[in-house]
Parts: sequence; structure tokens; C-alpha cells
Amino acid sequence: MGIRTMRATGFTPNRRTATIGLMAALMGTTFLTACEPKVQPASDDSAPLALVRSARDVHSYAEPNVARVRHVDLDLTADFRARVLKGTAALTLETAPTATQVVLDTKALAIEGVTDASGNPLKYTLGKPHPIFGAPLTIELPQGAQKVVVKYATTADTQALQWLDPSQTEGKQHPFLLSQGQSILTRTWIPTQDSPAVRQTYSAIIRVPTALKAVMSAEMLTPDGEAVSGNSALRAYRFKMEEAIPPYLIALAIGDIAFRPTGKRTGVYAEKAMIERSATELSDLEQFVAAAEKLYGEYRWGRYDVLILPPSFPFGGMENPRLTFATPTILAGDKSLVSLIAHELAHSWSGNLVTNATWDDFWLNEGFTSYFENRIMEEMYGKDRALMLQSLGYTSLQAELADIKEPGLTQLHTDLKGRDPDDGFSEIPYEKGAALVRLLEQTYGRKKFDAWLKGYFTRYAFKSMTTAGFVEDLRETLLKGDPGAEDRLKLNEWLYKPGLPSNAIRPLSEAFNKVEMQAEAFAKGTPAKSLLTEGWVTQEWQHFIESLPDNLTAEQLKDLDAAFGFTTSRNSEILFAWLKVAIAQHYEPAMPALENFLTSQGRRKFVSPLFTALMAQKGWGVEMARRVYAEARPLYHAVTRATVDGIVK
Ligand code: BES
Ligand code: ZN
Repeated sequence: MGIRTMRATGFTPNRRTATIGLMAALMGTTFLTACEPKVQPASDDSAPLALVRSARDVHSYAEPNVARVRHVDLDLTADFRARVLKGTAALTLETAPTATQVVLDTKALAIEGVTDASGNPLKYTLGKPHPIFGAPLTIELPQGAQKVVVKYATTADTQALQWLDPSQTEGKQHPFLLSQGQSILTRTWIPTQDSPAVRQTYSAIIRVPTALKAVMSAEMLTPDGEAVSGNSALRAYRFKMEEAIPPYLIALAIGDIAFRPTGKRTGVYAEKAMIERSATELSDLEQFVAAAEKLYGEYRWGRYDVLILPPSFPFGGMENPRLTFATPTILAGDKSLVSLIAHELAHSWSGNLVTNATWDDFWLNEGFTSYFENRIMEEMYGKDRALMLQSLGYTSLQAELADIKEPGLTQLHTDLKGRDPDDGFSEIPYEKGAALVRLLEQTYGRKKFDAWLKGYFTRYAFKSMTTAGFVEDLRETLLKGDPGAEDRLKLNEWLYKPGLPSNAIRPLSEAFNKVEMQAEAFAKGTPAKSLLTEGWVTQEWQHFIESLPDNLTAEQLKDLDAAFGFTTSRNSEILFAWLKVAIAQHYEPAMPALENFLTSQGRRKFVSPLFTALMAQKGWGVEMARRVYAEARPLYHAVTRATVDGIVK
């Protein structure tokens, strides 16, 4: 859909989409038998924009315009021996007068039955499962029904959940459970309408073995749990999330979890065995929230806590509301990797308040967040640090653009119909997205731009946003009264065309220029210990390693290692950058560290490029990749496994 054709629709930012849903129900619905979510007739340019903005999500079976889930009430028991969550999801619905059924998303769930609010059985059918999207659960609704209760259990194929043995935790004494919903995995542990545009409030009671504690992306109503009558082996934890959120943000973790406050509305959760280390690293949380609020307005979620997970967590961080989930690989000991927290916190505005309407608009979540993350870092650590981080991002964008074989995947707005939204995951939505937001900032100036962005978060708070809706908003605000602006910005090219437009602004870091001079001096023969590296921060080391020429001798690599101890670095980003060099140049002394890194954490951003690099080294690399992956695979979350399975065949 060209953005140009959208102009005639006369959208104003005040017109809301929420009312559209039930109106559209009049258009009727057909019973779904196909095994892929039904594809909406291509968004038709003549349709009222509001309809386009609530365009059907091609990654969900739900028909929210007919019957829409408004609230999810979970009652689940965690059985660590069987590795299942079992219980009920009671869904509160809003229905069109004509509605006769509600369609939910499910995947790999064992559905045991469906009833109405009074326990009377309801008729339902479970469609044929699709390998990516799962199976639609279609429930027949009696006239006026407002609630359905689904009794179910998760299965061994539930991808959202990872059940860890005690040996995979820091404390080694207790098991652990973690969930990861984004993008379309919530349907593997909760039968609901798993679409980012179908916002839902939720409440939960979670029963866990008495030694453990449950936490969720919600208000914790029973911080210490409560007894379960008639079962002394279990303790119950209650939660409620009163803001309507997209279902990919419903999250749960269970383990030997402790809490340390870091301020009046912030704190850190982690396994008891690493709570001190975690709380020390994140002791500035309160200031992060204050910095974010100063930039773009009130934090709307009450508390902001961070949960540091065991090392198999597949992402660096996940912006679950009120409770960011984070990898322990950011615990460098010197707070040098906390930009990740700035990122997840920024999602409390871009992503959690204003949410991508479909996964083809994913860049709206990540591009705005990467921009906002950098502004928080600037507030906290100053301009130099912010520019270094921008520059690292820009370099990885260039590398990604060179790497991606499929041009469509370098567009900001993607077309992932029939495919896993994960196929669109790359540096593009993050760094090309941030580059576009930066272009707006630098074109209009901070004052005007900041006011716009703050207004954008307010105008669309608790709403979903499409790429076309973003353009419409710009036309009504920043670009208003300047008909040439869109062309000068090359907006259409940025959003709907592959590659990086020529007006992208390259960040210039003076500190990095100096780093590059040192990398050059080294390449020309200056011994490592004579290089001018005093006072370098983590990002300068990362850039130094990335700036090394790719034809260093084993002697030179040894010299670097002897001077700077890269192979033994306990900073995950420095080690990661170094291991990529080590693989490319087959630097033998780093191989034990590589093996250890790949088998001691499962963060996809680290393990996937390292396995890719190994596989590119035919012979020894392939052999090592296969051997190490056989050992590492059982430790990884399904998300990481799915990616690495595709690399190490
Ligand atoms: N929301 C993402 C993680 C995600 C994206 C999970 C898509 C599943 C599907 C999160 O905010 C994120 O971007 N995490 C990054 C860290 C960030 C500093 C770039 C990560 O995990 O590396
Ligand atoms: Zn993100």
C-alpha cells in the first residue's frame, strides 16, 4: 500500500479506532477451516483509514471485530515434575450483537473443555494446527454470552515456556520456569486472541511449589504468596494488570526468586544466588525512570522492576510491563551494559503504551525504542557515550544490510503474511527505525521533535499503531503545512523500500575516531601495550575490536590478548566481539572460551552469530559448531533453538 494513496482519507489523530471493531462486525464473518490465519482482502485504499489502521492481523486467527477478548483471568498450577502449567483461562468478551462464536489462538495446548461462566459446557472446535500459527479454537457462544472458561494444560511443545533444571540455575538447588510471549508465543501457554492490536487486562492466581515464588508482568498482590487450602505443597500468588496490554506482554517466571528495592518505585528480582550482584549493577534504576519521564512524560505503569533471569533467557531483555525480563549477561560488574535496561524501560512508552498494530509494523516498537533508549543514555551518561552507542548501532545496521539476502526484509514496513514474524527480526527494525526517528529529530530540531514525540505517546496511549497511521499523524503534526516535507524526508522510501535512503545521517563519534586510529596503529605494527587506550569504556573496546583488520596474524592476536585479556573478559559484549574475530581468524587459544560462552548462556543475539561464523569456517568450524551445539542445545530456550537449528544443520 503506497502511503501516498492514504492522503485522501482525511484521518485526524483524534479519531479513534476502538469504535471501529464492532462496526466492522456488520461485515460478517466466515467460519475458518483453512490452516493459516485467514487473509483480509488487501487493505483497500478507498476504505476509511480507521479501518485500515485496525487492519486484520495476518498472524492471528482471531476475529476481534466479531467477539473480542477484553480480560484474561488465569488460574494455573505449575507442575515442575510434569513440566506443565495446568488450569483455566476465563476470558471476558465483548461481542457484536450478531456474534455466534469467538475465535481464539492456541498452539500446542491440550484443551480439556470449555464452559460458560456457570460451568455449563460450550461447544468448541479446534482447527487443524499450522506449524507456525497453531490452531484456532472456535467456541460457540450462547446468545449474550460474555464469558468463556477454557480448561487446559500446556505441553512439551509449548514454545513460550522454558522449564529449567536446578543445574541450569545460578543457585543449583531449585528449578525455574520462564515465559517469553513475543511475538506469537503467548498462544502456546494461554488460549486467547494473540494479536498485538487486541489489548487485554489480566489477572492471575498461580500455584507453585512452596519453596518457589512466582512473578508476573502485573501488580503483585501477594508478594509473599498465600497458603493453598488442602495442599501444603503449594503456595499461591495473585496478580492483576489493570491496563489493557497486548497479550505478548503477559509474562510469568517462577523460581527461588528474591527482591531488592532500588528506590521507591523500582527494584530488582533475581534468583537469590545472584540478587546482590543484580541489585548492585542496577542500582541506578530510579534515575533511569526519572530521565525517561523528563524526556517524554509520565511513566504510566506504577512500578518499574527488573527480573534478572538465568542465563538461558533467549533475549537480552523483554519489556514485560512493570517487570522487564533481562539476561544476566548484562551484569558486567561496572554498569557498562545498562543501555539494555534503558531500552526495555523506553518500551514502557514505545511498544507498551503505543503498540505495533501488527508484526509488519514491528519497527514502530523497536525503532522508536532504540531512539528513546539512546536519549536516556545521553541523559544518564552524556553525549559522548550516546554517540558511541549510536555509532555501534549504525555499524551493525550496515553489516546487516550487507548480509540480508531478501530485500523485502530490509524495509521498515514488512510483508510477513504466511510467515513467522520472527523472520523479520534483525537490526533493520531497530537501527534503520532509529535512523528514521533521528532524521526527524535532526530535521525539525529537538525542541519541536521532542514535543511531537511526547504528544504522540499521549495521543495513542494504550492504542495500537500502524505504519500508515504513523504517517498520517506526522502529516497532521510535524509536517503540517509543508507539502514538500514528505518527499524531502524520502518518507515513502524509508518505510516501504529496501535499503538505507541517502539522507540517513551517520552518527559521528570523536571518541571512536581516536579508537580507529589506535586500531590502525596496531595494524601497522605498534605493539598492543603501546596503544593509547587509557580510560576506554566498554563501547570503545567493542569498537576497537570491530575495527581490527581481518588479516591479523596469530602473533598479533596473542599480543592483543596478552595486553588486554579479551579471551578472559567477563564483559559479554567485549567477549562476543572478540570471539567473532577469533573464529574468523581461527585463533586457537580462544576456542575453550568460545565453547564455554556457547554452553553457559543462551542469548540468541550472541549464540546465533557465533554459530553462523563457525559454520562459515568449513572443516574445523563446522565440526566444532556441531559438537558444541549438541552440548548446548538442551540448555537453550525454544526461541534460540529454532534459530540455531537453522544454522547448524
Ligand atoms: N522486544 C524485544 C525482544 C523481542 C523482539 C522478543 C522480538 C521477541 C521478538 C526487546 O525489547 C529487545 O529488543 N531486546 C534486545 C535488547 C536491546 C538492547 C536491543 C535484545 O534482546 O537483545
Ligand atoms: Zn526492544
